[in-house]
Amino acid sequence: MTTFNLQLTSDEEQISVLQLTDSHLFAEESGTLLGVRTADSFTAVLESIINQDIHFDFVVVTGDISQDYSVSSYQRFAQYIATLQKPVFFVPGNHDDGPLMYRILGDFGVHTERSLVCGNWHFVFLNSEVYSVPHGWVERDQLAFLKKQCELYPHLNTVVLVHHLPQLVNSSWLDTQTMHNSDEFNSFISNFSNIKLVLSGHVHQEYDQFFNGVRYIATPSTSIQFEPFSHDFALDMQGPGWRYLRFDRSGGIDTQVFRLPSGRFIPDTGVGGY
Ligand SMILES: [Fe+2]
Repeated sequence: MTTFNLQLTSDEEQISVLQLTDSHLFAEESGTLLGVRTADSFTAVLESIINQDIHFDFVVVTGDISQDYSVSSYQRFAQYIATLQKPVFFVPGNHDDGPLMYRILGDFGVHTERSLVCGNWHFVFLNSEVYSVPHGWVERDQLAFLKKQCELYPHLNTVVLVHHLPQLVNSSWLDTQTMHNSDEFNSFISNFSNIKLVLSGHVHQEYDQFFNGVRYIATPSTSIQFEPFSHDFALDMQGPGWRYLRFDRSGGIDTQVFRLPSGRFIPDTGVGGY
């Protein structure tokens, strides 16, 4: 498995990265998730990013690109995201078909490498998907890959990207769908002092906490949002979102969440599940 080396275009002090997550696209452009046309909310997010003229070096997509495992959902994702005109990297989510997405997205110019070096930062892309069930699990081969990567680049600050946030969010229904071997995962990464950040999706809400010196971040979805701290399934009325991150040479991370204004993509709150 090769590592992609991304050369910065100028002598930048910081690496700027855009995170998009949980687009949940369908085979049909008209497909809806709990009442929201996910293709429309995704393209509206892309439009907003382009209109704001934000500088970023590359894009990371943290899973659940598709909602229906379809070839055309991945093809359209690749067509949409190409409008950003930057390199795109991804990890699979529980709603994705891992082997299919690697094949289709690779054919359409999305990067399929699972290791990226940019400046003095190293990004490692892991698979936590357990096919057709919502919870996650990081297999031993993934942990072995991470270990090998950390050993190859011990002098670089490292970011681990994985769909399932390996922390609970105090939302009972959603916490049953967490990474089920998160204790093993978190204990494993604590062995590597160069791992600074675990960057995830899945929880469809903003999250930013430190545990044992490692920062854990999750980001709002470009489609529907889950109500934070809700015991039962509930939707949040905040607009679709995305995240901007800057990584500086000394190991610092600065980040901000952006959202579309609420009211444009209103989910159906009468639905009792996801
Ligand atoms: Fe999702």
